[in-house]
This record gives sequence, C-alpha cells and structure tokens, in this order.
Amino acid sequence: MTQISVRVDGAAYSDDVEPRTLLVHYLREQLGKVGTVVGCDTSNCGACTVHLDGEAVKSCTVLAVQADGSEVTTIEGIASNGTLHPMQKAFHEMHGLQCGFCTPGMIMASIDLVNDNPNPSDDEVREGIEGNLCRCTGYQNIVRAVQQAAAEMSGGSTASETLGAQA
Ligand code: FES
Ligand code: FES
Repeated sequence: MTQISVRVDGAAYSDDVEPRTLLVHYLREQLGKVGTVVGCDTSNCGACTVHLDGEAVKSCTVLAVQADGSEVTTIEGIASNGTLHPMQKAFHEMHGLQCGFCTPGMIMASIDLVNDNPNPSDDEVREGIEGNLCRCTGYQNIVRAVQQAAAEMSGGSTASETLGAQA
C-alpha cells in the first residue's frame, strides 16, 4: 500500500491505495464518486474522463498514485451551490444526451475543450471530443450543447437566450 493525498472536488483526502489501483477505481470505490463511470476496458470510450490539475484525462489510464499531490475534479464537483455548470445546463437544454452513460466524461472533456478554445467550430468540437464515444446521440446535439456552453462560459448570449429574446 502507498499513501496518497489528493484534493477531489474541493475536499482533501489521504488514503492508502495499492500501487496498481487505477484512479477511476479509487474515485468510485474508495471515495464513492460513482458519477465517474467505466464504459470500456480498452481506454477508448472516455466515459471515465475527469480533470487532473485542470486537464481532462481518462481516469482509467492514470494510476491513483500518479494523482498524489494533485487536484482532481469529477462530474460531481462542477456544479456550484446547486447551480449546474454551464456545460451541464447546455447538455440538458440542447438534448446532448440520451442514455446518459457517456455524459459525465463528455462534459468533462468538453469543459477542457472550451477552456482551451472558447469559441470552437463544429469541426473543432468534434475533434476535441474524439476521445469520447457516444453510442446514442449521433453527436449533433452534443456539438450544439458544447457551443452553447462555450458562449455562456465566455459571457456571450446563448442560443436559447437568443431564441427567447426573439420570441
Ligand atoms: S472507461 Fe473507457 S476510456 Fe476509461
Ligand atoms: S447518450 Fe448514450 S452513450 Fe451517449
């Protein structure tokens, strides 16, 4: 066992983990952060995506010991005071999900994408989330959701607000 100290969703944890424990298993099984899900055993679905020191990573490709001393943010840590993060709100409003299994990882990857590119084109969104697979939506509404959130995150008006203003 190895002791690690991490901050997860704003709270400090110190835990003993086996050196082989994957970050996703530490989050789910030791911390109960089951909002982060496992969708494959080949590291290609992206459902397990979290932020490690602000960057999106597939938490099934990172050992828990590699997160020692780091800040981890999961889908459970992005709402504030009961208010959804703009990316969560946009996925809801733009119907960017169906079964919802890919959604936690898709949202975490999309936030990182918009942090790097505040005004992504369709192609840039598709390229930015290419490591995250969705079996349901066909991606079109996900692209719209990411662009709506990008507008809100950069302080611009959102598509739904614009539509509302025109109504
Ligand atoms: S669970 Fe599929 S990439 Fe991590
Ligand atoms: S909404 Fe079902 S996998 Fe994406």
